[in-house]
Amino acid sequence: MEFTTPAGRNPIDRLTVVGRPTPRIDGPLKVTGTAPYAAERHDAVTSPAYGWIIGATVAKGRVRLADVSAAKAAPGVIAVLTTLDHAPVPAVFRQTASLFGGDEIAHYHQAVALVVAETFEAARAAARLVRIEYEAAPGAYDLAAVAADAPPSPDPNEGPDAEIYDRVGDFDAAFAAAPVTLDEIYTTPDETHAMMEPHASIAAWDGDRLTVWTSNQMIGWARDALAGALGIAAENVRVDSPFIGGGFGGKLYIRADALLAALGAKAAGRPVKVVLQRPIIINNGTRRAATIQRIRLGARPDGTLTAISHVSTSGNLPGGFPEAGIAPTKLFYAAPNRDNYLKLARLDFGEGSDMRAPGEAPGLMAFEMALDEFAERLDIDPVELRVMNDTQADPRDPGRRFSERHLVECLRTGAERFGWSERDKIPGSVRDGKWLVGMGMAAGFRLNLPFPSEARIRLERDGRLTVETDMTDIGTGTYTILAQTAAEMLGLTVDAVTVKLGDSVNPRAAGSGGQWGANNSTSGLYAACVKLREAVAARLGFNADDADFADGHVTAGNRRVPLADAAAGGPLVGEDGIAYGDLDKTFVQATFASHFVEVGVDQFTGEMRVRRMLAVVDSGRILNPITARSQVIGAMTMGVGAALMEALAVDPRHGFFVNNDLGFYEVPVHGDIPHQDVIFLDYPDAKSSPMKAKGIGEIGLCGVAAAVANAVYNATGVRVRDYPVTLDKHL
Ligand code: MOS
Repeated sequence: MEFTTPAGRNPIDRLTVVGRPTPRIDGPLKVTGTAPYAAERHDAVTSPAYGWIIGATVAKGRVRLADVSAAKAAPGVIAVLTTLDHAPVPAVFRQTASLFGGDEIAHYHQAVALVVAETFEAARAAARLVRIEYEAAPGAYDLAAVAADAPPSPDPNEGPDAEIYDRVGDFDAAFAAAPVTLDEIYTTPDETHAMMEPHASIAAWDGDRLTVWTSNQMIGWARDALAGALGIAAENVRVDSPFIGGGFGGKLYIRADALLAALGAKAAGRPVKVVLQRPIIINNGTRRAATIQRIRLGARPDGTLTAISHVSTSGNLPGGFPEAGIAPTKLFYAAPNRDNYLKLARLDFGEGSDMRAPGEAPGLMAFEMALDEFAERLDIDPVELRVMNDTQADPRDPGRRFSERHLVECLRTGAERFGWSERDKIPGSVRDGKWLVGMGMAAGFRLNLPFPSEARIRLERDGRLTVETDMTDIGTGTYTILAQTAAEMLGLTVDAVTVKLGDSVNPRAAGSGGQWGANNSTSGLYAACVKLREAVAARLGFNADDADFADGHVTAGNRRVPLADAAAGGPLVGEDGIAYGDLDKTFVQATFASHFVEVGVDQFTGEMRVRRMLAVVDSGRILNPITARSQVIGAMTMGVGAALMEALAVDPRHGFFVNNDLGFYEVPVHGDIPHQDVIFLDYPDAKSSPMKAKGIGEIGLCGVAAAVANAVYNATGVRVRDYPVTLDKHL
């Protein structure tokens, strides 16, 4: 499917505003502290009551008793809700554990009570007086112990009815016959989103109508989920989330704060604010599940891959989905014999769910390290090994080609710009004073997902534009690229556009997840702008197909009229959306990257320091080089975290993650990150959308961690296959 545009012209292709480096239009609000986040909606609610959530202190079992008498009598307390007073709230849409209700405990810190009081301090103090008694039951908390018996499971990217096995040719025979082989196990740990802004919600009822001011990536899903959980019609739920202090997948779905704010507000008879306390976020919320990945590769001596097998095992609650570590392996490199599948064990932690490039990020941590090992075994440069096994078609179906795929250019450009030829392939052979210096590289892959998205745009009487959609900006730059899109389509500048986001009263957009936000939300707005152009042309007496919108004027033939004249008699509105057919089946749409990293390892202490980083990204048209670069350098930073630091520590006896705050769950800080270079290839993808853009939010993370780990190996000669690569593992 090619996207047709009015009269064969696509106004976006002019690139007078779109594609230009444009600072964030919401930047001043952010840096002056005036952008209101969920817990700060004083503009909407002036005197809420405060809720404090009590999380279960057993990981599995049931609540036997909840004694709230002392808490109810405490100063300032308005209401106390316990899980025994409510039927289990149904878990909706990719959630598996009930957020509240019933006596059954599915995981540690699952919400068992809410104390509502006049002040935050009163609620917290009264919560200490609630006595909950549990009957604990045994659970499973050790992935390695249950992995062998884990059954195969469908890939969550492909739906429950898809083939479990990604099988082509005869892997076993090809692997047995291959002159050069690799068979290794790689592990990645449980990880947590660790966003700065906690989950937070303020809820208010007006009769049977509920409004929740919250922090959520997907407004439409949140509205549907709240309606489902509360048993009310979605039309009676309004969700508003204009600013979001990071989500990373943790805010794709509603959490206990939103639900309990609603239940608490109903019980209190007034608005209630609930901030999920930092110490329970990690065990109450979702996480990226740990994986155990076995990778087998077979090749001819010249490096041509003949056999690829990737089996990734993770654990989740009953009904949950596996971490899709094989998602990139299915499509990344050619090889005629393939056997890839997922296994899913039962584990009784909180939900394993989406986090920062789910599937691809941990899958590539393993696969791109395996390729590095294999290159060494073959005595082929790791860049060349990847280049020679590139494919322009789905390895399962040669007739299904990639819409655009410039991986080889990513690799070649990266190698040249990074100075890869300077690398010494013999590990441990380069020194700089006390530092052992190493270089590593990896390739990156992430699917590009088309998603329906709608928007409304209004030309106001004063000639300004207002964009309205429930799209979110999770710190990514959505406000700005939507303003650029509207400005380009109507021939104005960015400062003539007001963008209103995050409110479910407005048209339903794609939301922010799976790096689909930018391409799809701008495409939905594009469609609305086409409608507005038609309305403007009709009012001014132009033929819409002939009219050119530029420099604040509408021009056709020798007529030139100020755009604002069209709204002199009243505002004009365009509302529409984009929906996609089966284009992702006709062509494979994906984004690509190469990552190059230099590290230093202190030869005495084992301390590791990243010294240089470069990413080369092939991600369709770049809508705004400033915000796109921010996305990629943030993702590269997350990759350093995944490689060297991030891991939830499991207590296998009591079934919870011990390092449950930002003090002990380590993420990179400024001092950990050196200068980062980003190069965009900027090839428009005409098959992805009228914007010709693709995902940018997650490709920057895919492959980075392996590049860091491969650099550490090149520095030290010690191969650590168990992430994160901490110094105790290579000393
Ligand atoms: Mo992303 S993990 O889909 O928010």
